[in-house]
Amino acid sequence: MSERVVAAIDQGTTSTRCLLFNRAGRMLAVAQREHRQHYPRPGRVEHDVEEIWRNVASIVPAALRRAGLRPENIAALGIANQRETTVVWDRHTGLPLARAITWQDTRTDGIVARLTAAGHGELFSSVCGLAPATYFAGPRLRWLLDNVPGARAGAERGDVLFGTMETWLIWRLTGGPDGGVHVTDVTNASRTMMMDIRTREWSPKLLAALDVPERMLPRIRSNSEVYGTCTAVLPGVPVAGALGDQQAALVGQTCFAPGEAKCTYGTGAFLLMNTGTRMAESTHGLIPTMGYVLGDDAPVYALEGSIAMTGSLVQWFRDSLGLIDTAPQIETLALTVPDNGGCYIVPAFSGLYAPRWHPDARGVMVGLTSYIDKGHLARAVLEATGWQTREVVDAMNADSGLPVTRLKVDGGMTANHLLMQFLADVLDVPVERPLGSEAVSLGAAYAAGLAVGHWSNLETLRANWHRAAAWEPAMDPGLRRREHANWGRAVDRSYDWVE
Ligand code: G3P
Repeated sequence: MSERVVAAIDQGTTSTRCLLFNRAGRMLAVAQREHRQHYPRPGRVEHDVEEIWRNVASIVPAALRRAGLRPENIAALGIANQRETTVVWDRHTGLPLARAITWQDTRTDGIVARLTAAGHGELFSSVCGLAPATYFAGPRLRWLLDNVPGARAGAERGDVLFGTMETWLIWRLTGGPDGGVHVTDVTNASRTMMMDIRTREWSPKLLAALDVPERMLPRIRSNSEVYGTCTAVLPGVPVAGALGDQQAALVGQTCFAPGEAKCTYGTGAFLLMNTGTRMAESTHGLIPTMGYVLGDDAPVYALEGSIAMTGSLVQWFRDSLGLIDTAPQIETLALTVPDNGGCYIVPAFSGLYAPRWHPDARGVMVGLTSYIDKGHLARAVLEATGWQTREVVDAMNADSGLPVTRLKVDGGMTANHLLMQFLADVLDVPVERPLGSEAVSLGAAYAAGLAVGHWSNLETLRANWHRAAAWEPAMDPGLRRREHANWGRAVDRSYDWVE
C-alpha cells in the first residue's frame, strides 16, 4: 500500500481547496473551486454554504484522483477556514437558514455601536481580548437571530445551530442519522467575542451582552484531536484537526517559539506572532488571540495584526478597473515604471483594520497628476500591502517587546518578487518564504496528523521547513522615511469619509 498521507481542506474567502501532504510536508495534489461572492447591498458580503459544501464534495475526490489515492490512504483530515464568517442551520434538516455572513461584512456596525454605547467595551476586551468590532462573529450571530425569521425561537428550542465554517463542514462531514458532530476549535472560537480567552469556554457574561442562547453553540475543542469520523466525502477518515486559517499558517510555518512571526497574504493579510503560553495584551491596536492548542498541551497564544485588503485590492484592480487580465500581471505592469510617481492608494474599502481600527475610513487614491499612468497605479496597489504590513510590524514590536527580526511569509501574493522586495525594504528586515507557500493547509494537516500519531512531535515538523526564497532590505533609509511619511499622510485622508 502507498504511504499514508494527510488531507487538508482550506475553506477560504474566495475558494475552497483540498491538498494532500506526505510525511515530509510536501504537497502531492491539490484541487480548488471558487465560490460566488454575494453583495446584496453595499457593505454586505455573503456566501452560500451549500455551494461551499458542494465544492468540498467535488474537490476532495478530485485531489485524491490526481494523487492516485483512495480514502483508505488518508490518515486524517484537517480543516483550516476563513474565520469569523457566521452561519446558522437547522439541526434536523441540516439546511442553512440564510447565507453565511462573511468576515468582511459590515452590517453589524449598529450592533457594535450599541454594545459600545451600553458600556460593554471593557467587558469584552477583558474577557475575550477583543474590543467590539464588525470583524467578529458574535455580532453577526446576533444580527441573524434578530433578522432571520424563526432563528431566535429555533435557537432557544435547540433546533437551530451556530457555527463558523469549520463547524459547518465538520457537521456535514460527520453527519449521520442523528446529525453530525457540533464542535468548533479554540482558534475560531477566540474570534467570536463569546469565548473567555483564559478559560477557553463560552462566557455567560458575553453571551448575555450579545443576547445569544448558549444551546446553539458548538463545543469548544483543541486544534488537534479526533472530533469524529467522516461519513461523507472521505468515509472512515478521522477529522482530527481544525484551526482558523491564520493560526493554521502559524503552525504550517512552524512558528512554535515565542517571538516567531508569519504573515499570510491572501484576500487580506494576517500577521501573527507566537507570544507563548501567556496571553499578551495589546496597547497598539493588535488582537490577542489563541495561537493553537494541540490536544492536552498548554495553550499557545498569539498577537495578530489583521489587514482587511491586500490580495482583494489586486482583484479589484483586475475585475473592477480592468487594468490587468490576471493577478500576476500586476507585477509586470508595476515594472514598467521605476517608482510610484507620487501616487498612493489606501484600500480602506471596508474601513481600516489593525492597527488603526477605523471603521469609517474609506479608500482613497492621492497624488494624482497627468504624469501618473497605470504602471504607477499598479505600484501603489502593491505598495499599499507593504505599508500596511509595516504599520502592523511597528505595532507588534511596540506591544510584544519581541522585535520582528525576520518575517516568514506565505500565500498567493508571495509569488510577487517586486512586492516581497518592497516588503523587506519598508520593514528593514529579511523576508523569507518556505518551499511551498501552502502554510495554511499544511498547518491544518500537521494538526490532524499530530492527533493520530502520523507525526510524532513539533521537532519533526520544524525539520520539514525549508527556505525557498529570501529578500534582504535594500532601500535607502532616507527614501524609506520619506515614503513612510507620505503613506501616513495618505492614510490620514482616508478617515471620516463616510458621514
Ligand atoms: O479573518 C479572516 C481570515 O481568516 C480570512 O482569510 O485567506 O480566507 O482571506 P482568507
